[in-house]
Formats: sequence, C-alpha cells, structure tokens
Amino acid sequence: MATKKIFFGLVLAVMTLTVLLGSCSAKTYKVGDYHGWTANYDMYYSWARGKEFHVGDSLIFNYDPNVNDVTQVSGGLKYRFCDSSSPKAVYKTGQDVVNLTEPGYHFFITSNHSLCTSGQKLFVLVVQEPPSKSRSSPISPPPPSNNKIVPVGKMYKVGDSRGWSVYNSYYYYRWSEPKEFYVGDNLFFQYNKDLNDVIEISDELEFRSCEPTSRVAEYKTGHDLIKLTKPGVHYFISLKTGLCQAGLKLKVTVRPLPQAVTSPNVPTIRLSPIERLNRWLRSFRPPPHH
Ligand SMILES: *[C@@H]1O[C@H](CO)[C@@H](O)[C@H](O)[C@H]1NC(C)=O
Ligand SMILES: *[C@@H]1O[C@H](CO)[C@@H](O)[C@H](O)[C@H]1NC(C)=O
Repeated sequence: MATKKIFFGLVLAVMTLTVLLGSCSAKTYKVGDYHGWTANYDMYYSWARGKEFHVGDSLIFNYDPNVNDVTQVSGGLKYRFCDSSSPKAVYKTGQDVVNLTEPGYHFFITSNHSLCTSGQKLFVLVVQEPPSKSRSSPISPPPPSNNKIVPVGKMYKVGDSRGWSVYNSYYYYRWSEPKEFYVGDNLFFQYNKDLNDVIEISDELEFRSCEPTSRVAEYKTGHDLIKLTKPGVHYFISLKTGLCQAGLKLKVTVRPLPQAVTSPNVPTIRLSPIERLNRWLRSFRPPPHH
C-alpha cells in the first residue's frame, strides 16, 4: 500500500513538472510576420498552416487602428461570412496581444467588412500541449480502454487525391458510399477556387436537379474544411456553371455520435482529433510561390 502511494506521488510530481516545463515554452507569434494584420487574400491560411499553436501561446496583431481592429468571432460561419455582429472579443489598440488560453478553433476577423472579405481573417487550431512533448514524456497516461470504439472526429479529403474536381457523380458516390460519417467528422474540399466552389444545400430534389433554391452554406477558398455538426443527409454541389450537372456533387449521411462520446471524458481524448486535424492539415504543402 505504502509503496503504491509513493509511486503515485512520483508520477504526479513528474507530470506536474512536465506541465510546468510545457508552459515555459509558450511561444509568441506575430500574425502575418512582417506583413502584419492586413487584407491579403489567402495569406493567413498559409501563415497558420505550418504552425502548431498550443495553449499558452500568444498572437500579436499589428495594424492601423484607424481603419481596422481584431474581432474574435465564435464560429466558422461568422468567420466565413465576415460577420462581426456578435463578437467574442474585440481588440483595437493596433498592437494587440491575444493569449490563446483554450484549446480548439479560434477565429479572428476585422470588423471592417471590406477588408475582411478581401482576406483579412485568420483561424488557428490550438492544442493542449506539443505532441512531441507528450511522446517524450516519461509518463504517458494509459490509453482509455474504450479508445478503439470511440469514433474520434475523422478527417476525410473529399475525392481523395483527385479532390473536388472530378466531373463524375458516380465517382463521389463511390467515394462516400463505403464510409461511415459521424457528427464531428470533417470534410476537406480541395479545388481550384477560380473554377469551382462548394455549396451545401438541404434538399434531395434540388440536389438531383442541381437547381437549389436556398443554401445552407457556401465555401470558396479552394481548401475548405467543413465540420459535420448535424446528423442527417448533407448535400454538397458546385454552383459554377454546369459543374453540378457534370457530376460535381456529393451526398453524405451523417450518423449521430454514439452515447460513449457524449459522456464527459479525459480531456486528452477530446483533443486527439484536434491534434490529428492539425497534423493532417500540415501534411498539405502550400503551393510554391513565384
Ligand atoms: C475599411 O478599410 C478601408 C481601407 O483601408 C478604409 O478606407 C475604410 O475607411 C475602412 N472602413 C472603416 C469603417 O473603418
Ligand atoms: C496575456 O498574457 C500576458 C502574460 O501572461 C499578460 O500580461 C496579459 O495581460 C494577457 N493579456 C490578456 C488580454 O489577457
């Protein structure tokens, strides 16, 4: 009994030390490097893509406060549509330090709508601790026994290596048919944004006819990450002239999460999909700039 207590005391001490050391390595990132916080289409996606942000890191935004600010918004839709109407936080000194205190997605836009739509927006994925650190840590907590049956949010690249550009609906049917999608999974659409887009619609008939009367969402960056947040059937088409008719359409059926996932769990379990997402995103090389 006593030796057991001493052992757990040691484990606790080592873990505490690891956490303390981890927080010492907090990094500060200057957003956009020497460009600062400015309207520059696609720049911040590339800027953030190669980096791993951790809880405790901070972002510095440098800009002209007369025309601009840093508006933190709560979700991907607000981010995409530059909706600053109900911000999570607003910074406006022109020299803002934003501390990343929580894991998860963080979305930043400017409330200057025209600048935001010209590309002044940034999202980052913050993870709890560096994966390299947890690997080298002498004590790694044992994986929970139900790890295998929990479908952690998976990442699917639509169309695999051919992306969202095959003019053949059978191809996308065959791509999605054997897969089991769950709430929390992500679809990654990669395509040439000058030629193509992604529109989510909600109606099967409109999906078949390629004539939507309303849209759930639209995406246009050429590398859209779409989280499947609701169970049910989701329809994605392209609205560029003729492409949906040519076969650029995808239907996925999303299943609700099994009970096991909704019960509160060890935080590391909830983080692992984020870590995976981060690694997965990093596996895409930015196109060479000339
Ligand atoms: C938005 O930015 C533009 C370009 O810098 C500037 O001319 C305009 O005044 C800004 N609008 C607001 C509301 O600050
Ligand atoms: C961010 O963290 C630094 C250093 O820990 C602190 O001085 C600063 O007040 C924090 N900023 C905000 C906005 O919380």
